[in-house]
Amino acid sequence: MTSVALVDQHGRVATDLRISLTDRCNLRCTYCMPPEGLPWLPGPSLLTDDEVVRLARVAMERLDVNEIRYTGGEPLLRPGLVKIIEGSSELRPRPRLSLTTNAIGLARLAEPLAAAGLDRVNISIDTLDEAEFEKLAYRRRLADTLAGIRAAAAAGLTPVKLNAVLIRGVNDSHPERLLEWSLEHGYELRFIEQMPLDAQHQWDREQMVTADEIFEKLSQRHELTPDPEHRGSAPAETWLVDGGPAKVGIIGSVTRPFCGACDRTRLTADGQVRSCLFSREESDLREAMRSGASDEELADRWRVAMWGKLPGHGINDPRFLQPARPMSAIGG
Ligand code: 5AD
Ligand code: SF4
Repeated sequence: MTSVALVDQHGRVATDLRISLTDRCNLRCTYCMPPEGLPWLPGPSLLTDDEVVRLARVAMERLDVNEIRYTGGEPLLRPGLVKIIEGSSELRPRPRLSLTTNAIGLARLAEPLAAAGLDRVNISIDTLDEAEFEKLAYRRRLADTLAGIRAAAAAGLTPVKLNAVLIRGVNDSHPERLLEWSLEHGYELRFIEQMPLDAQHQWDREQMVTADEIFEKLSQRHELTPDPEHRGSAPAETWLVDGGPAKVGIIGSVTRPFCGACDRTRLTADGQVRSCLFSREESDLREAMRSGASDEELADRWRVAMWGKLPGHGINDPRFLQPARPMSAIGG
């Protein structure tokens, strides 16, 4: 293998690293985990803060990664998060640093995270209705999420991007409300098709609210026209709302796969490289690291793992098998 970057056999180059910092969460979104939670990863199997930053450094220095997104589970539950962000922002080249979070606790943490070097946040919010929120996430925490979103904007963690998943019969009746509210406040909203990543394995194609449906629903209230600035490799198809400059994204993860343009590589909270959310194989960097592997040996393992990345997620293939680990353990 000659190239230093994370290339695969299909010509893609991974430059965007997602690192899960914990598989735990304070919500129970039905598309992710069951109400009673999951058997969490045991503490010693989690990468330590220093191990996380070391692998981030290997990715930046030797693998041409340029962006790091910390995820979970819920990354704000990780006690060392601010320290990890601080360590990551000292790396050279300096990565762009973002966080995917449900924003519970961000009211308190937005300032310290921004001061530590965090650039941006992606916040999951599926509804503005307390009853729908509770039905979807089994917790009454909408107010905390909203406070977190406001704090993120106030701390300059911008643009604040919002992710929404629509669940049929729960929060799919008024997606335009979420859109109008987002536009009013200057947040960038994207709707994401539900993917088969729930721990309960209850995903059902027939029940999924498709990108086309979301488009139709929003179109009943607003005129959506293609965004001329839309970049080819970004997963969200973006639309101008009522002539712009307001925009909305619709990510057809299932019905309009963008695997051909994927530039992601993933690291689980227990130190396993995954080339895709839907990988059925992982490569163990934690044990290699704990047995004394050098930076270059770790980089090499990472390159080998990515070289084998499959061309697509295969959800639309009848032989598709959902990955053994749920989203909360992989990192979104
Ligand atoms: N399908 C689509 N999106 C999901 N997310 C979590 N589980 C799923 C799923 N099964 C979203 C969350 C969050 C991001 C990490 O992924 O809402 O915004
Ligand atoms: Fe928690 Fe995110 Fe899973 Fe919801 S989708 S339960 S916020 S990890």
